[in-house]
Amino acid sequence: MHFFSAAAFLLILAHSLHVKAGKCPRVCSCDSTKLTVACVGKNLTEVPPTIDEITLKLDLKNNNLQELSRGAFTHTPYLTHLNLQRCNIIKVKEGAFRTLGRVVSLNLAYNKIDILYQESFDGLSSLKELFLDHNRVEEIQPGAFTQLGFLNMLALTNNQLVYIPNMAFQGLNNIKWLRLSYNSLNNLASEAFAGLFTLNRLSLDHNELQFFPTQTMNRLRELTRLDMSHNPMIYLGEESVSMAKLTHLYLDHMSLQDLSDKALSGAPLLSHLGLSHNQLRYLEPLSGPKELSSLNLTGNPIYCNCYMRPLRQWASVKGVKLQGACAGPPHLSDEPLQAVTPLDLRCRSHQEQLKDEFEKDNESAGSITQPTAKPKKKVECPVNCDCDTEAHHATCEGQGHTKVPRGFPTQTQLLDLRSNHFHYLPANGFPGASQVVSLHLELCKIHEIERGAFRGMKKLFYLYLSDNDLTSLEAGAFAGAPELTYLHLEGNRLAQFPGSALTLLPSLFVLHLERNAISKLEPTGLLSSVTPKLRELYLTNNTITSIAKGALDSAFLGTLHLDSNQLTEMPTLSEASNLEELSLSHNSIRWVGPKAFQPVSQSLKRLYMDQMGIEKMSRDALAGLGPGLRALTLRGNQLEELPDLSPLTGLEVVDLQDNPLLCDCPLLPLRRWMENVTLEVIATCGHPPEVRGQKVRDVQVFKSCPESSSPPVEKVVATRPPKVKVKPQRNLSKATGVKAKPAKPKTKLPKPTKTRPQKKPVAPKVTKNKKML
Ligand SMILES: *[C@@H]1O[C@H](CO)[C@@H](O)[C@H](O)[C@H]1NC(C)=O
Ligand SMILES: *[C@@H]1O[C@H](CO)[C@@H](O)[C@H](O)[C@H]1NC(C)=O
Ligand SMILES: *[C@@H]1O[C@H](CO)[C@@H](O)[C@H](O)[C@H]1NC(C)=O
Ligand SMILES: *[C@@H]1O[C@H](CO)[C@@H](O)[C@H](O)[C@H]1NC(C)=O
Ligand SMILES: *[C@@H]1O[C@H](CO)[C@@H](O)[C@H](O)[C@H]1NC(C)=O
Ligand SMILES: *[C@@H]1O[C@H](CO)[C@@H](O)[C@H](O)[C@H]1NC(C)=O
Repeated sequence: MHFFSAAAFLLILAHSLHVKAGKCPRVCSCDSTKLTVACVGKNLTEVPPTIDEITLKLDLKNNNLQELSRGAFTHTPYLTHLNLQRCNIIKVKEGAFRTLGRVVSLNLAYNKIDILYQESFDGLSSLKELFLDHNRVEEIQPGAFTQLGFLNMLALTNNQLVYIPNMAFQGLNNIKWLRLSYNSLNNLASEAFAGLFTLNRLSLDHNELQFFPTQTMNRLRELTRLDMSHNPMIYLGEESVSMAKLTHLYLDHMSLQDLSDKALSGAPLLSHLGLSHNQLRYLEPLSGPKELSSLNLTGNPIYCNCYMRPLRQWASVKGVKLQGACAGPPHLSDEPLQAVTPLDLRCRSHQEQLKDEFEKDNESAGSITQPTAKPKKKVECPVNCDCDTEAHHATCEGQGHTKVPRGFPTQTQLLDLRSNHFHYLPANGFPGASQVVSLHLELCKIHEIERGAFRGMKKLFYLYLSDNDLTSLEAGAFAGAPELTYLHLEGNRLAQFPGSALTLLPSLFVLHLERNAISKLEPTGLLSSVTPKLRELYLTNNTITSIAKGALDSAFLGTLHLDSNQLTEMPTLSEASNLEELSLSHNSIRWVGPKAFQPVSQSLKRLYMDQMGIEKMSRDALAGLGPGLRALTLRGNQLEELPDLSPLTGLEVVDLQDNPLLCDCPLLPLRRWMENVTLEVIATCGHPPEVRGQKVRDVQVFKSCPESSSPPVEKVVATRPPKVKVKPQRNLSKATGVKAKPAKPKTKLPKPTKTRPQKKPVAPKVTKNKKML
């Protein structure tokens, strides 16, 4: 069959080349080498009958065809691409395309088609993409698509569909993406998408659906992406979404006022959830999705009080990135959700609220009696400063002040004094600032802070002293500001960990000390006694060479950044039993010994060890770490081998690039592991020379390694000589058969065939047994 049609094709080709001059209709332009014909914008009312039979691509857009009759394309049986956009087509008669068995792409967009008849597309047996967007389709008759067994993409966007009946898309056995956006769909029959076993993407945005069509959607077992944005749903109840493979769900721009915490309980693989521009005021932690990485809440009126705390905590623990910002209360409004911490999310007592209301009333009452022409109260505000009483903000940024100005409104909550020239902060430096929550003193050339400078700042929560000239901090520097929770001291010249200054800060939660000159951490700075609640400590870019045993002991510490220092040994973390994130990148620690992370193995989620010059990691270096570890980076080291990564089944991020890995049998467990994980793992061989630069995944050397999965007896089959600068061989669980006889690294590889294991004796039997079951 194939041969004959090919032969016929060649005959016709020869024939057509011969007569090509006469075969191009006058209104068209023809390219006889590419076999394309374009008759664009000619007001044609029918398909020109003299188009060369051999044509592969026919472009008829912008004409006036109105009706496609049966057999309209019998003269061009070799077409692969047919463009009928904007042809004023109202009706496609049954059998119009019957002779077009080779067409892969058919464009009928921007016409006036209103009904898709049964077998409208009869004959298009190779069709891969069908554009029917921007028509007036309001009815799909049963069987309209039954002949399109190879179709991958169907675009029905911008039509007038209101309802999708049962089995409407029957026959689309290879469909991947179905686009139904911009219709008026308000109802989907429960079997509307039955039979679409290959569909992985469905666009239903910009329709009129008022409820999530749970039953209909449950039929789509392979669906990974679903866009439901711009539908007028107000509520998503329990178990609304039950789709085992769904990873991306877009519910943006709807009218959601509530979303049950169990709404997505049947979507275990969901990684991206779009909820932007809805009416959600808060959200509970979502049960169900275990892999959620991004939750978009942009444009919702999220009220950041204690009701949001569970979500925030859950997001931190699960590594879910929250997008969006708080809409209130005022002191948090516009604060990115990702930046607020569970501690920020508080509910005040009813009494406090009443008091606030009352004070506000008093204040506004006062404003009326104030003798001023403006309706807005003329507030006291220091010269060269700007005070906004409604927002309770005051700013004097970059005004050249040499002394802290006095006389801010007493209700001021945010005081921004950055980029002035204070040099020195005296005791009681901020009188009348008892309501200030956030104080900005960045870039103020401050080199000394007198004891008690912040006295009376009972509400101070955030203090920014970044990028000043502090070389030390004396013991009482922060006395009188007991609520201080976030302290920014990065970009100073502190030569020591300011332990004694911190003793008066029982609430300290986050401490930034990046870019200072701290050279060692001493046990006297014991975190657990000084700052029992410290959760995040940033020491990036200091000059730390040593960390005394016990210096980091803190059962509360969750994040520790020690990157860009001068450590030469792994720090001991014996008591940091809640550490979740540790960065050691950009130090020069050459060796990572056994069980280096054992004390934190139950809590550690993210471990960064890039660009450290690590030459060797003990095989047990990561012992104890398991499914809890989400991120591991070892980029840019000198590693030839890696420790066993297979217990790390929860990894979401892994970076092994830029290591000169020795691609030989000892690396087989890594290679196996790479095949096993769904992550994309990039690792490159550095040795032996013949595979240098190749990806571990691509090299063939592993084929000749003995199977580690076969029974132990089989494994003793001799293999190649070791190419390793062999480390003393322990009893490896994966028998690689490497004998501890060092060979020169440069020896040539034996031919893989020699070492291929001879047989897998039991395998066939097993298969049979399985079949019998
Ligand atoms: C296109 O053809 C139709 C009828 O064949 C005619 O009525 C109409 O005026 C033509 N339009 C243009 C722009 O030539
Ligand atoms: C979150 O939603 C907003 C508004 O819809 C959008 O602009 C933004 O790109 C979204 N973010 C992500 C990461 O998708
Ligand atoms: C209300 O304002 C007046 C005048 O400023 C003041 O005397 C009074 O104590 C205020 N009341 C409260 C409850 O703050
Ligand atoms: C460390 O700090 C110095 C001085 O502030 C800066 O020049 C350098 O870029 C920083 N290095 C890193 C890795 O942040
Ligand atoms: C591959 O995955 C399976 C199933 O999760 C597991 O049993 C096996 O140990 C894994 N193999 C490796 C080399 O990680
Ligand atoms: C190796 O295994 C043998 C037998 O299982 C055991 O006696 C020996 O102690 C092991 N050696 C090491 C270094 O673990």
